[in-house]
Amino acid sequence: MKFVIGNWKMNGSRALLREMIQKMRDIKSENRAVLCVPFTMLDEKNDVVALGAQDVSTHERGAYTGEISASMLAEVGAKYVIVGHSERRMYHDETNDIVRDKATRALENGITPIICVGETMDEKRAGKTFDIITAAVRESVPSDVKDTIIIAYEPRWAIGAGITPTTAEIAEAHRVIADTLAYMGLDGTPILYGASVNSGNVGEITAIEHVDGVLVGGASLKPDEFVSIIHSAK
Ligand code: PGA
Repeated sequence: MKFVIGNWKMNGSRALLREMIQKMRDIKSENRAVLCVPFTMLDEKNDVVALGAQDVSTHERGAYTGEISASMLAEVGAKYVIVGHSERRMYHDETNDIVRDKATRALENGITPIICVGETMDEKRAGKTFDIITAAVRESVPSDVKDTIIIAYEPRWAIGAGITPTTAEIAEAHRVIADTLAYMGLDGTPILYGASVNSGNVGEITAIEHVDGVLVGGASLKPDEFVSIIHSAK
């Protein structure tokens, strides 16, 4: 079983979500599909695909205009939430500490956090990839985790760029993350790869050791393509 998780970002519509759910009805696959959609679509009840959010507040409640708490996400039926996506780290200055608080709130409310880590091109060029992702895993994962969490390795320079790291680079990064998680007593935690995944490369990527699934951006907005990715993840 591989995870195939779509991240719609600030795209899509209720109509597209309904079309996607229709298309997903005939899927014959053991893979677990999830769609992380904008907050306003999370209440679309269906028996085909689990829905998740793309962000959550670090706070439980209170005077935080515009924010959405984990208990509100749970109430509307969200089963997953992406935390620390590179776009949140980049445009909203989210640090590992903030990401850890968000993941903690999710777990407290029975929601599985999908914790994103990944290096920028500058960090990659400076040879810092493994230091960055090791620190991000250590600092972004809550202490005392008892329920499932998911880690997504997303090299920031490859997101939305149509390019992916080499198979060897993905394998090395995932091994470093798996070793870090094992050191933290969290072996077995699913580790997904994300950035420029499509139906043409997903088979090769999911065949790499320690790749337990994929986080898909752009290609998750095209129903036929997303269904094909779910079928092709092996
Ligand atoms: P992409 O996005 O698949 O469009 O590269 C991945 C992501 O941002 O999660």
